[in-house]
Amino acid sequence: MSFSISGTGSSLPREIVTNQRLGSFLDTSDEWIKSRTGIQERHVCTEETLRDLSVNAAIDALADAGIEAAQLDLIICSTITPDHFVPSLSCEVQKAIGALCPAFDINAACSGFLYALDIAEGYFKKKKDSKILIISADAMSKLVDWRDRSICVLFADGAGAVVLTQGNDLKAIKLTAKGDDQVIAANGPQGNSPFAVMEPYDPFVRMSGQEVYRFAVSSSVRDLANVLEMSNLQEGDIDIVLLHQANARILEAVSARMKIPQDKFPSNIAHCGNTSSASIPILLDELNRAGKLKPGMMLAMSAFGGGLTTGACILRWQGTNLSNHQ
Ligand code: ACO
Repeated sequence: MSFSISGTGSSLPREIVTNQRLGSFLDTSDEWIKSRTGIQERHVCTEETLRDLSVNAAIDALADAGIEAAQLDLIICSTITPDHFVPSLSCEVQKAIGALCPAFDINAACSGFLYALDIAEGYFKKKKDSKILIISADAMSKLVDWRDRSICVLFADGAGAVVLTQGNDLKAIKLTAKGDDQVIAANGPQGNSPFAVMEPYDPFVRMSGQEVYRFAVSSSVRDLANVLEMSNLQEGDIDIVLLHQANARILEAVSARMKIPQDKFPSNIAHCGNTSSASIPILLDELNRAGKLKPGMMLAMSAFGGGLTTGACILRWQGTNLSNHQ
């Protein structure tokens, strides 16, 4: 017994920032960003909070699943950029949608959605008829240094959500972590303790792009091969691979190494950029709403990110109310 995905939702900030607009205050160009990353534009919060995006995504996912917030048994949010440390993002969503269940946040950086699915699977083993809401949301515009062209052109803001109900669709899931504070890192708040003796430190996320690139490709290929083996499936059995939307070149490299055709790797990176852990559920919701997911399809998901963390899974798509009525 695992679960089925019964509803999807997503929300992006209204403001769209094109590559050309970044070129007005950074030494960069549309040509450089597009050719190195596949990104053409991204959505960036102006007046929206991460709570707003998360609540919108949650409401859409619940409507798709045909479930009332009061019926939920658990809410898990994955984020590295909450509006507040306390209350948690999940508690803010719980209050806003009128849910009554326990709620907590997790931080597994860009792999957060896969980590949340794995936690949810354990919960379903405890209570089979659970109804769980997962929201992955990040406002990376708060964490990047907008003077650093090597990083701010990559990231963006958004939220994606799923509702999980009783089912048997998760075929295999695997998480990894390899503690590392050099390849990708972002400091927490420093506070103003009169006892602290540390020098002021950098408040922005920093990353070694080429190392992340190598880590991303090799770990996704390894993790996807592992979950295929765990579920006794071959590459050819997979209909769609939802890979973390970090860079179009990473998608191409994983497709080539896995010998899974590029057309099985849908992508929204051109208009969404890298929304951290929100990227996979946002893409899932876009595909669901566009009618591109058919009941019985076998989906693979794979993510990688700060920590360093990775996660991958194989999931059968049963369809939600949206996809079953298209
Ligand atoms: N515009 C113009 N030039 C730039 C820009 C920019 N925005 N950014 C860097 N450059 C310059 C560099 O300064 C460098 O110039 P130099 O040769 O004069 O020194 C040159 O472009 C090449 O820089 P590289 O870093 O070697 O470029 P690369 O081809 O490796 O592309 C990139 C950089 C896009 C970051 C790539 O390494 C990458 O995609 N890595 C993976 C990053 C990633 O996926 N991160 C997120 C995953 S983890 C997570 O989601 C949290």
